[in-house]
Amino acid sequence: MISAYKLLCCPLCKSAVTEELKCLICGEKYTLIGGVYVLINPKLSGKEYKWNESILSQEREKLHQQYRSFINEETRKAQKVWQGDMKEYIDTFHGYVIDIATGLGEMFENLLKSKATFLPIAMDVDPNVLVWTKKKMEEKYSKEFIAVASDAKHLAFKNNVLDYATSMAGFNNIPDTALALKELYRTLKYGGKLIAMHSFVEEDSNSAKLARQYNLERAFIEKYLISDLTEAGFKDVKTNIVASAIWAENPMDLLPVAGDTQYFAIIEAEK
Ligand SMILES: C[S@@+](CC[C@H](N)C(=O)[O-])C[C@H]1O[C@@H](n2cnc3c(N)ncnc32)[C@H](O)[C@@H]1O
Repeated sequence: MISAYKLLCCPLCKSAVTEELKCLICGEKYTLIGGVYVLINPKLSGKEYKWNESILSQEREKLHQQYRSFINEETRKAQKVWQGDMKEYIDTFHGYVIDIATGLGEMFENLLKSKATFLPIAMDVDPNVLVWTKKKMEEKYSKEFIAVASDAKHLAFKNNVLDYATSMAGFNNIPDTALALKELYRTLKYGGKLIAMHSFVEEDSNSAKLARQYNLERAFIEKYLISDLTEAGFKDVKTNIVASAIWAENPMDLLPVAGDTQYFAIIEAEK
């Protein structure tokens, strides 16, 4: 197993940690569970998100099929274009590549499939989902990777250590976009890039109203996301909308709201 402690820091005081995952300054202790580095501090991330255990007891392929069964034809076509565009970027990656909010690993799987030479890092606030995804990915792929349970708003990575950050709808699921983007900016190297699959909705849509209730509105509205990326320090910010489709009712997803148009974008931003 590749040791990750040199990249990691205490999410509370941002100081280095020992190989045993103890903070050198404040003394907080972190753990390794099922090969996943768990650096979440309850003082910062009190309301930790937890995946439903019944979901994690299921087979990945079955779950995927179940989710896909709610996706209408036009969304499938749009997502195919979106995935194809992302693949071209992935094949140019090098160094350390973090996948923000890995979840069940659809995006992470694309990183593991790539022949390009880089070290993928799976990251999610829920250690249980990461243990599950890590196991599934190891059964399927031989490419080495690291898995770190961390809160995107209080990242357990040192300053200037990551070459690329990617995500598929990760920022659409993390409340308080501005804070998460500031943290990401801190951990990327100068010249490091965020290249993420992301989706937008119209500002006056029902989806935007619902997103506001969950403090997710800034991620779902294009102009707010651009503003938060710029505010965090990113330059050359681009939001390339590559496809759009009307979203069908999906009981496995909170957002968007059925009937609203979803715009599929690739976000590019550089530190
Ligand atoms: C639906 S998944 C995103 C899809 C996933 N990227 C993929 O490719 O399959 C959303 C994930 O966001 C994670 N998440 C929510 N808040 C987070 C936070 N503050 N930091 C890191 N991950 C977070 C959740 O635990 C969940 O696994």
